[in-house]
Amino acid sequence: MTSTSELKEIIELTAAGELPDRNGIVRMLSVRDPGEREALFNAADLVRKTCVGDEIFLRGIIECSGYCIRNCHYCGLRAQNKGIHRYRIPDDEIVQRAKGLKERLCTTVVLQSGEDPHYDKERLCSIISRIKEETGLAITLSIGERPYDDYRAFREAGADRYLLRHETANPELYRKLHPGYELSDRVQCLKWLGELGYEKGSGCIVGLPGQTIGDLADDVLLFRGLDIDMIGVGPFIPHPGTPLANNPAGDTDLVLNMIAVLRLVTRDTNIPATTALGVLDPESRRRAFHAGANVFMPNFTPDPYTAYYEIYPGKGPEAGAIAKASEGGYKTLFEGMARPIGTGFGYRGKVK
Ligand code: 5AD
Ligand code: SF4
Repeated sequence: MTSTSELKEIIELTAAGELPDRNGIVRMLSVRDPGEREALFNAADLVRKTCVGDEIFLRGIIECSGYCIRNCHYCGLRAQNKGIHRYRIPDDEIVQRAKGLKERLCTTVVLQSGEDPHYDKERLCSIISRIKEETGLAITLSIGERPYDDYRAFREAGADRYLLRHETANPELYRKLHPGYELSDRVQCLKWLGELGYEKGSGCIVGLPGQTIGDLADDVLLFRGLDIDMIGVGPFIPHPGTPLANNPAGDTDLVLNMIAVLRLVTRDTNIPATTALGVLDPESRRRAFHAGANVFMPNFTPDPYTAYYEIYPGKGPEAGAIAKASEGGYKTLFEGMARPIGTGFGYRGKVK
């Protein structure tokens, strides 16, 4: 283990724009000592301020469908989980809901669902173009792996961004948690999305059973290597209807370290304080905004659907957060941190 002064040197060099080696990243991710953590978070907060400014951007999520054909071992929506109620929000209701986002201070709508073939290319293009025409909002899709041709059609219909988490950069662990699927296919999709002019978002889960700190360093290097624009990181939360039900939840301190390191290494990316972090520990979610985060994604799924979108347990409090967003509750919270709510679309690279 390197000394505190060596750690501080790694932090300083990274903050100045140098890419640390894997060991340096592991060292930063491993900090536990309160003084060392403060040094890491302060450096990340400063890079955040310099590279993306003080604004916090709100991206309103609509969880359009609770169906999924995949079987990710950690996720409650996995096809083999028969214990949850499945739903699809009617197309008109999705569009209506998107229209209500502006008054909730969101400049982006995120359409999220499991991998659901019901939403074929034509249906989705129609929803996307209607939302674009009727709201002018930036549109983010988070609907999984699709053929190149679908991604192109969605882009032409008006989609601006796409979230597709790589989940873990360890190919063997990826295979174990996603039987029948390969990390390389995921990476290929992210490359396509970049080629098509999307802002591409990825992310990973912290605390997956079998995951090491070295794996997390590889996640950091993969985000950077793929030049990912938006990076969502949250803790693993065990869901009772999954094969990982009996494993412990991820460490929220490690998630915060990860956010700080990602800010230092990727500089001008958009980094949310994720819902999963808030579910395990609301205070950690607040702290994330002092450790590099600059995006908040309130859940805007209408009742009763949001309760059915059970990726992990405990998403409930988010429902209350919706009301707060409408009353400007977030505004007060963020202004208390001297962080205004972003009024533009919050594309990457707005402030250099
Ligand atoms: N714990 C934490 N995150 C999870 N996700 C899915 N299931 C879980 C879980 N049990 C994350 C995945 C997915 C995103 C929508 O939610 O990273 O990409
Ligand atoms: Fe489906 Fe996504 Fe859950 Fe995997 S993480 S089972 S793809 S909803």
